[in-house]
Order: sequence, then structure tokens, then C-alpha cells
Amino acid sequence: MSVALTEFVRSLPKAELHIHLEGSLEAEMLFRLAERNDVALPWPSADALRGAYRFDSLQSFLDLYYQGCRVLVREQDFYDVTRAYLARAHADGVVRAEAFLGPQSFTERGVPVGDILGGVLRAMDDARAEDGISAGLVVTAQRHRSEADAFTLLDSVSPWADRIAGFGLGGAEVGNPPSRFTRYFRELRQLGFKTTAHAGEEGPAAYVREAVELLQVDRIDHGIRALDDPNLVELLAASRIPLTVCPLSNVKLKAVSRLVDHPLPAMLAAGLTVTINSDDPAYFGGYVVDNYVQCAQAFGLSADALAALAANSIAASFLSDAEKDALGNVS
Ligand code: ADE
Ligand code: ZN
Repeated sequence: MSVALTEFVRSLPKAELHIHLEGSLEAEMLFRLAERNDVALPWPSADALRGAYRFDSLQSFLDLYYQGCRVLVREQDFYDVTRAYLARAHADGVVRAEAFLGPQSFTERGVPVGDILGGVLRAMDDARAEDGISAGLVVTAQRHRSEADAFTLLDSVSPWADRIAGFGLGGAEVGNPPSRFTRYFRELRQLGFKTTAHAGEEGPAAYVREAVELLQVDRIDHGIRALDDPNLVELLAASRIPLTVCPLSNVKLKAVSRLVDHPLPAMLAAGLTVTINSDDPAYFGGYVVDNYVQCAQAFGLSADALAALAANSIAASFLSDAEKDALGNVS
């Protein structure tokens, strides 16, 4: 891997808009937290766990990912995983991180929502104070659960409403179309929240259309399957809805067979507002800079193209225009 290319990508001020904090939990930290919280794991060691990172679908990944979530129990655990991700992102030249967390994995085991959000937000405050990185929490609902469960989640986090950057939708996509959450997203919009939804990762282009037309989201997470529907591509291009694309994730979960087969160049050629992100970097073999660099190598992206992708990411963030401008002044 070219050191010069990596250093160039690092030097670009960028936002990461699609990163699950639970998916940034590295195997070593996962084992440390399991010991700290007396949680039994099905793997004998961190190396054995890493050896299990072979997935043939989103669901095969989620099965392992939810096992890993069991080690996050106390406020300090949520602090530690968030602080470690933000330190790594800062080292990668990320000046704004909008990070997902799905409280339902934890509240169903009795973890108080205040401990979850408290730990994440305290880490975000410390990262801002210590590294100058701007961070926002995007609370995700799991789409395999009911819309009523999503409303319960919204209720439970409402005391932190002024600290929440937005709301998202993740989890098992196929069979759980965005239309199941139409009333929930309408409520979020009416409350003035920014929204985003995973759509078109494994699911069909029709799910991307539903996310745009029914949920009226501000961003689409993944969206790669949108290319199957030329009319939808025109709609996405005209409306400039940003897509948070995660190329290494798509390869690891077999949404595409090899990076060179990824539709990123076609998405750019179609005029879509594309951003590059890591999704679950501890599991997919790369943080955000690795995603940029491997795409640059696979597709021969120019320095200008890489800079445009980084600029897209800041423009696509949920910050106000004034806050986006101020990012240039963050150390
Ligand atoms: N949660 C964590 N990673 C995810 C992904 N790639 N798709 C859907 N939900 C997720
Ligand atoms: Zn994701």
C-alpha cells in the first residue's frame, strides 16, 4: 500500500457518516470487556474471534456482531469503545464523526439507556476537548423489531434529544422494508430530527425508493442496489440525497464479490452524492482511510476525486452550514 496515498487521504479533512460504534469494538477490547463484566464468550481468544470474521451475508455478520455486543454492559464500556473509535478517527483525519449506536441490543438485557448514552456522549465530549474532533450520536432502531419497539426507543432517549444528531435504521434488511417504519420516521421528522436509513445494502432498489419516498430520509446508508433502477438513480442524483457507501463492508458481507466489481465508479458517474465510510471497521478489515485508499487503488481515483469524496462527506453531515464552515478551524 502506498504510504504517500495513505498520507494524502489522511490529510483530507473528512466526515465519517456511517460507522456503528458496536462495530468498532476490536477483538482485544472485546475480550478485555468480557473479562471485566464476567461475560462468557464462545471463542477461546481474540485471535480465534478474528478467525471467525468470515461472513457470507449481512445476517451471518449480525449473528456474530450481536454476540460481541454482550460485552458492553456499563457506562464505562460505552465510553471506552466510543473514545477508542474517535481517537482512531482523529488519527485518520476525520474532523466530524456521526456514529451509530443501537440501544435495543443493550436495553433488552437490562442496561439502562442513561448508561449507554451517558458513556457515548461523555466520550464524544472528551474527544472534542482533547482532540478537537466533532462527534454526533445517531440512534438506530433495529428493523427486525417492530415499529412499536422503535417508538419505545424514541421515548426512552427523548431526555437526551438535544444531544442526538439524528436517527437511523439498521439490522437485517431483507424482509424488513422501510415501509414498516413509515409512522416512526414521520414522527422523527415532525420532532425536527435528521434521519437516515440503511437501504439497498442487500435489499432491492425498491427499498431505497421507499426510504426516500415514504421515510423521506436525509441520507441513505449503502444504497448500492439503487443502480438496478435507472429512474431511482435519476431521482437520487436530482435530489442530491447523500449515500454513505461502505466498500470494504460490501465485499466482506458479499454484497459485491470483489472490490473491483463494486458499483462506486458507476455511482460517481451517475452523479450521485457519494461518501466513503467504514461501517463496522473492527470486523471488516479497515477504517475509513483504508476504504478510501483501497478504492483509489481499485478504481484509479485521482487526488481530485478523493478530495471531492472527502468534501462530499462534510457537506452531507447533519451539521448546520455554519458548523460545517467552522470545521475548517477545528485543530
Ligand atoms: N448494523 C451493523 N452493521 C450493519 C450493516 N452493515 N447493515 C445493517 N445493519 C448493521
Ligand atoms: Zn451500517
